[in-house]
Amino acid sequence: MIYVVGLGPGSTDYLTPLASKLIAQCDWLVGADRQLLAVGKHAGREHKLDKKLTDLVNWLMEHQAANIVVLASGDPMLYGIAKYLNQQLGKDKVQVVSGISSMQYLFARIGLDMNDVYLTSSHGKTPDFDFVMQHNKVALVTDDKIGPYQIAQEIVQRGLQRTLIIGENLSYPDEQITLLPADQVIDKTYLMNVVVILNER
Ligand SMILES: C[S@@+](CC[C@H](N)C(=O)[O-])C[C@H]1O[C@@H](n2cnc3c(N)ncnc32)[C@H](O)[C@@H]1O
Repeated sequence: MIYVVGLGPGSTDYLTPLASKLIAQCDWLVGADRQLLAVGKHAGREHKLDKKLTDLVNWLMEHQAANIVVLASGDPMLYGIAKYLNQQLGKDKVQVVSGISSMQYLFARIGLDMNDVYLTSSHGKTPDFDFVMQHNKVALVTDDKIGPYQIAQEIVQRGLQRTLIIGENLSYPDEQITLLPADQVIDKTYLMNVVVILNER
C-alpha cells in the first residue's frame, strides 16, 4: 500500500499518532530532505522525493508491493501531492492520511472559526482575485512570487478595504503572525506563509 501521510504544519508536536505509527512501520519512507530529517529515526529505507513527479510515480509503481509512506506537508489533500498521486496511481492503490493543514493551524492560532472560509492558493499559480475578493473570509497558501505584498496590492488596486493576517513559519520556533490593513503591507519579503484575508465591514 502507498500511504500519503500529512506531517502537519512543521513541528513534530502536530504529527498525529497514526502518522507516527505508519512512518515507524513502513518499508520505504519517501520525502524531501527536510521532511526525512524532521521525522527522525525509523526502520525503513529512504527515497528522496524526485524532482520530477513523473519519476516519483514510476518509482512508486515499481515498489508498490512494499509498504510505502510518502510524506506531505500539512494536509496532503489541501494543495498537496495526494490529488496528483490519486489521479496517477488510482485511489485503490493510495491511502491518504490527513494531517493538520497550515491553514487550519493559523485559524486556531488567531482564534477565528473556519466556517464559510474560501480556501485557495497562490502557490505556483495566480488565483482569480476578482473571485477571491467576493468572499469575506479567504485563506491562501502562497509562494515567493505571489505572497502577502502582491495579494495586498490586488486589494489596494481594487480600492477595497481588507485586513490581512500573515502567518509565517507556523508551528516553528520563529513563527510570526502579523495583522495589517492591506494598504499597510509594504514588506516584500516574508518567510513561508499562509495569508488570511478578512472583509470586516
Ligand atoms: C504546496 S503548499 C502545501 C500546503 C499543505 N498541504 C498544507 O495543508 O498546509 C505549500 C505552502 O503551504 C504553506 N505552508 C506550509 N507549511 C507552512 C508553515 N509551517 N507556515 C506557513 N506556511 C506554510 C506555504 O504557503 C507554502 O508555500
